[in-house]
Amino acid sequence: MHCCVSGLWSLCCLLLTLPPITRASQDCIPRKSIPYQNGNIKVFREEGYTNYTTMLLREDQGLLLLGAREAIYALDLDDISRRKSSVYWKVPEEKRKECTHKGRLEETECRNYIRTLHKQLGDDVYVCGTNAFSPTCDVLKYEGGQLKLEGKLEEGKGKCPFDPFQRYSSVMVDGDLYSATSINFLGSEPVVLRSSHTSLRTEFKSSWLNEPNFIYMDVVQESEDNAEGDDDKVYLFFSESAVEYDFYSKLLVSRVARVCKGDQGGQRTLQKKWTSFLKARVDCSVLEPSLPFVVQDVFLLRAPKWKDSVFYGVFTPQSGSSAVSAVCAFSVQAISEVFSKGKYKTPITVETSHVKWVMYSGEVPVPRPGACINNAARKLNMQRSLDLPDNTLQFVRDRPLMNEAVTALGGQPQLVKGGAQLTRIAVDRVRALDSQLYDVMFIGTENGCLLKAVNYDGEMFIVEELQLFNPPEPVKTLRLSAAKGQLYAGSESSAVQVPVSECGRYKSCVDCLLARDPYCGWDRLASRCALVSSGDLLAHTSLIQSVRHGNASQCTNSMRVQQPQNYTLVPGNNIKLVCHPGSNLAQVHWQFNGHHLPGPSSTSNPGSKYYFYSEGLLVFNVSAADVGEYTCRSLERANGQQYALTEAVYRLQLGVVRNPRGRGAGEGTNSTQTPQPSVPNPKTSPVDRNLVPSLPAPRTEERALVALQVAVGLLAALLVALLVWNLYRGHIPLPGRGAGVAKPRGVEGSRLQGAMVDNSTHRQVPFQAKVLPEEKSQVDGSSCQPLVDNYRSLTNGEPTPSPCVPLDGFKYIDDESEI
Ligand SMILES: *[C@@H]1O[C@H](CO)[C@@H](O)[C@H](O)[C@H]1NC(C)=O
Repeated sequence: MHCCVSGLWSLCCLLLTLPPITRASQDCIPRKSIPYQNGNIKVFREEGYTNYTTMLLREDQGLLLLGAREAIYALDLDDISRRKSSVYWKVPEEKRKECTHKGRLEETECRNYIRTLHKQLGDDVYVCGTNAFSPTCDVLKYEGGQLKLEGKLEEGKGKCPFDPFQRYSSVMVDGDLYSATSINFLGSEPVVLRSSHTSLRTEFKSSWLNEPNFIYMDVVQESEDNAEGDDDKVYLFFSESAVEYDFYSKLLVSRVARVCKGDQGGQRTLQKKWTSFLKARVDCSVLEPSLPFVVQDVFLLRAPKWKDSVFYGVFTPQSGSSAVSAVCAFSVQAISEVFSKGKYKTPITVETSHVKWVMYSGEVPVPRPGACINNAARKLNMQRSLDLPDNTLQFVRDRPLMNEAVTALGGQPQLVKGGAQLTRIAVDRVRALDSQLYDVMFIGTENGCLLKAVNYDGEMFIVEELQLFNPPEPVKTLRLSAAKGQLYAGSESSAVQVPVSECGRYKSCVDCLLARDPYCGWDRLASRCALVSSGDLLAHTSLIQSVRHGNASQCTNSMRVQQPQNYTLVPGNNIKLVCHPGSNLAQVHWQFNGHHLPGPSSTSNPGSKYYFYSEGLLVFNVSAADVGEYTCRSLERANGQQYALTEAVYRLQLGVVRNPRGRGAGEGTNSTQTPQPSVPNPKTSPVDRNLVPSLPAPRTEERALVALQVAVGLLAALLVALLVWNLYRGHIPLPGRGAGVAKPRGVEGSRLQGAMVDNSTHRQVPFQAKVLPEEKSQVDGSSCQPLVDNYRSLTNGEPTPSPCVPLDGFKYIDDESEI
């Protein structure tokens, strides 16, 4: 009973501790979407091997060491598709039998998953694998271009998980391995362990670790230049069941914990245990009512001065309490202050048996519990943790949790993103032409995409999204070599490599500057978007850039001249004019013989001549009146300015009347093969069959009108169905999502291709146009994200699509039903 009462009470408290409920959350749209084939992706995989999820960068040797299931590879860091050597580490038959006898699955669990790869003090690498639920470690050598395992087969308990599906983390510091994992077969006994001559571990108490999920560990050299004579610290990020709230069900919270490198345990109390294990909650809250977000991955961005270093973390909502993921940054200094100056929480017993954690307001012993041995302790003649008094040790043993939570830099997330959940992160600090440093975030997603994002003074901006894996798979590992300017990502079926930037993707000065990519600037002499390498700033006098503001007004001749494409019309046919703007943030305008086409609001009128949708423009039932020039222009607004680009020009003229059905399957079929959205063979498309009989050759205007009404009605039904399906799947309600907008817009390099079958200048276009949402699979994520419909936002009088959209501003259902 007390559970319910105090549960409610704590829920109130919990909600109070969360930020006030506001509707200011934002969801960001990547400016560019780059499909897999344009991504310049190098791939490594070996037939028969899977789970490429452990990576060690050896920049000193020019190698990427890649741990997979039962294999370790040495790959060329410049091109990981080039394998230099490999070594295989299988589970002996006997061990496998043992594993299956204990009830584990032979094909998945009773294998050896390489989980630990750390550089040791010399050149060697310490490697551990799950080894059929019997974790084992070894030493890996790379000599004469060959990988070799020494065959030491050390006990790996506590260094590497038993269970390959369990998250764990470890780090090698001065030759000592720090690991956070389960130490038993059942995976029920978590430890944070240092394996060295003075091994230390955590107490097995729920106040220390409560069903934790270990995420990330790293060391910060805080002893450098430290006025207090403080020690280096090893930080650990994890999530666990909260002890401080008793919620109606298990509630997860994200934590950061830390230990001191010089810790040697206590003399009597906390013997062989950490005397410096302290933890605090980390908050990354999106400003909407939701339960605390759960940390999924962390990256330590190291600065020359440790105080300037920053942890970047990816957070996702727990159990469907929200629909967005977030990235938050935590400065090492802020974390350090919570531990060195904050108050502690203490358990109190209420109502006979129930324990509640509240702020401790009594006297705190000296030296401060959990502090490293520093100048203050040394003054008290305590040189090692072994010298610490019992009252200090007992205090920290019983109260490892800090009262204060660590709050995110800037008080809000660096990025908020709907759609597929974010999984992994790496961050590069880049000096732009304005000589400022910018943190460029690279974020892997559940559907195999890589986002590149920057937070400009609180403004979230996603430069691009790139599809890393085809077919889509969750990004399980992400590593950055800042020196090489390369990113390495691992998934279950392969490892891939992409450069941090590809400025050549931006074709015009406006495109280059509006991209706001700190790596890229427009070279006015060479007329191309080029890499800004921080080394030789003098050589960059011809480069321009505007990352902070996205101001492209410095671009002089930004005109991109588009050659018109000529086409011949067959009267009575429908025709599709493709136009993909280079940016998802651009609006699209169509002109016909210099006049503005009315835009999509007219699509609500069933008799409309035109249909505007994500792939371009459809003209129904063409006649002599439709002859002329059609121009597709994109308008992108940035920093209060509007930039116009001509994306495509079509010149249509009238041809002979032919029976469209007779030819549709002939020439028209080509189009089904083009990668871009195109017109399928009417005979094979079930939905087209519905459209075909009514649309192709209407005899009277009345019939045409009825046909159009039927077609548009059908369309509306389909679109609504797609929308409902999208919502049902929990895809994020992006504004305007659904109306055949399954393909990302602004797909780079795809302009001017598509519907017209080929680009020869005079060609009849006999086939039936299809106005259908893309197939389900595409909505599902074979491309990164379905995005806003530029057309819609144009004519509803809404502002230009902006990179971040307030989550509550959706009127999409109204919009869709208007079609
Ligand atoms: C390893 O990859 C296989 C194949 O994709 C997958 O079924 C399995 O779940 C993966 N194992 C782990 C531990 O992730």
